[in-house]
Amino acid sequence: MKTLQHLFDNNLDWANSIKEQDPDFFKRLSKLQSPEYLWIGCADSRVPANQITKLQPGEVFVHRNIANVVVHTDLNCLSVLQFSVDVLNVKHIIVCGHYGCGGVKAAMEEEQHGLIDNWLRHIRDVIRFNQEEYDNSPEEKRFDLLCELNVKEQVSNVCNTTILQNAWKAGKDITVHGWIYSIEDGILRSLETVTNPNQS
Ligand code: CO
Repeated sequence: MKTLQHLFDNNLDWANSIKEQDPDFFKRLSKLQSPEYLWIGCADSRVPANQITKLQPGEVFVHRNIANVVVHTDLNCLSVLQFSVDVLNVKHIIVCGHYGCGGVKAAMEEEQHGLIDNWLRHIRDVIRFNQEEYDNSPEEKRFDLLCELNVKEQVSNVCNTTILQNAWKAGKDITVHGWIYSIEDGILRSLETVTNPNQS
């Protein structure tokens, strides 16, 4: 079973079922992608962007990493962002975190986890930026709170990139959304929405 044949079987089933409903689906998609949304989410296997939003192939451009972090020196995330904004002309950028995020949890703990601690350092910074709110929150609520604060911080990071700043200056209509997903009930919730500050 080292060849993962069951995944190829699943794939064939999936492709055939789509072609049954829409024979030209793949032909059409192969010529062009013009997704309206960029999704920046956690790599967690329980938060698959397409499935939880019922979006089809071609409808959402996706970037995922541990704890949905947007770092200004991360060429990978910035390249995705730039391509989405400048070439694909996405209309919406969704930063989606989730409750129960292992990356956020690890950032709250004192013990070391190896290389990943350097990545999670960015989430520890989120605690520092919001120290008062974090300290004043009841201990049992801090994990949820930090998952939410992390989304808002990453939304702010997206908005502060030269990519978004220049797109907005050029008058592009792009909205940045901060969402959070609950693994326990499968429900998405909006935390904040940021639009072009140059437009009233
Ligand atoms: Co996560």
